[in-house]
Amino acid sequence: MDRNTPIGIIGAGTMGMGIAQVAATAGHTTYLYDTRQEAVEKALATLAKTMATLVAKGKVPQAEADAILGRIRPAALMKEMAGCGLVIEAVVEDIAVKRKLFQDLEAKLAPGAVLATNTSSLSVTEIGAACTRPERVLGLHFFNPAPLLPLVEVIPGLATAPEHRDACVELMRAWGKSPVVCKDTPGFIVNRVARPYYGESLRILEEGGADIPTIDRAMKEVGGFRMGPFELMDLIGNDVNYMVTRTVWESFFYDPRYKPSFIQQRLVQARWLGRKSGRGHYRYDANGAIVPEAPVGLAGAPHSPKAPEAIVHRVVVMLINEAVDAVHLGIATRDDIDLAMTKGVNYPKGLLRWADELGLPACLAELERLQAEYGEDRYRPSPLLRRMVREGHTFY
Ligand code: NAI
Repeated sequence: MDRNTPIGIIGAGTMGMGIAQVAATAGHTTYLYDTRQEAVEKALATLAKTMATLVAKGKVPQAEADAILGRIRPAALMKEMAGCGLVIEAVVEDIAVKRKLFQDLEAKLAPGAVLATNTSSLSVTEIGAACTRPERVLGLHFFNPAPLLPLVEVIPGLATAPEHRDACVELMRAWGKSPVVCKDTPGFIVNRVARPYYGESLRILEEGGADIPTIDRAMKEVGGFRMGPFELMDLIGNDVNYMVTRTVWESFFYDPRYKPSFIQQRLVQARWLGRKSGRGHYRYDANGAIVPEAPVGLAGAPHSPKAPEAIVHRVVVMLINEAVDAVHLGIATRDDIDLAMTKGVNYPKGLLRWADELGLPACLAELERLQAEYGEDRYRPSPLLRRMVREGHTFY
């Protein structure tokens, strides 16, 4: 695949539109299809506005913006995907819809064409199994906003041919992206490894270890994260974040490491979804500014206040444990896991590098302390962490 390969995008929503911009910017003729014609029209209008802004800011010359927009073609029918070398699907997150779509698509495409899904939480293998040629189906998981975030998780299903995986890694590099390869397991890399950022922070809140602004401030000012966990949940939407947590937890057959929080469940039930509904963990005014108010909801009484350093240490060590366990289970390589968390969710540094800096024995000690205190499997240290401490190894 090269820039002469036409690219098809199915689903002209948030992700499909962003991916179309990326593909067209990389020089591909890009066909955009949606069952709702108005979605394609809206996407094209939004893309035109985006390009106008980039021109106004001096980031893209007018001629180039025109060329990029000229390469994005609305496709009225799915049959217009026939000449594409790669089709990326970004329709609703519904396994039945995606499987049906892949069956329909397969019949229309050239034999050498590759079919990719942008799913965040479904099994790539299960989607591929709907096709007669699952070897050409894989996951290409972009992050929102796709034109700005460089990470793309490349996920081969059980039947995916290695040459298609490799061709997609190459193509993503040519698009200026940072591709990482990961196994087809729940949450892939980012949505798996990042879970404790929310889950452990919610736990600290629930137990009265600190209030919401204190935890957010600690994670930003001491931890160096760009956004605090509660601000971030409000931005993502508590409904979306809760759904991802639930899906990962259920997909891991209810591993307590990923157990959702009642606090977040209640917010969703109250429709306190975050910024988009004006209220979530915080309350927002009409301009989107946080309105200070007394803490409400299910936060615990502050009986055991924690210092910011203790909060950050606990959350970061839980994140590190996830990253180490992902290496242990061969989900991805050390470098790809560190790259994923820095390029996909802007972590201040790779978690495995961070583990070395904190010292693996200190990470293990914190997990063992938590496990002894709670008696919960949630805090079990990864076997790889134990082994590395025993043998005196570091990640880098
Ligand atoms: P969206 O709701 O903004 O857009 C989905 C579009 O697909 C809609 O325009 C809808 O009309 C269209 N559609 C539905 N069924 C279709 C079909 N059978 N054929 C053609 N078009 C169809 O959704 P969004 O947020 O863009 O998500 C799309 C996919 O990307 C989902 O699988 C989601 O899990 C995944 N994803 C979403 C991210 C996000 O932050 N929004 C991030 C990464 C992945």
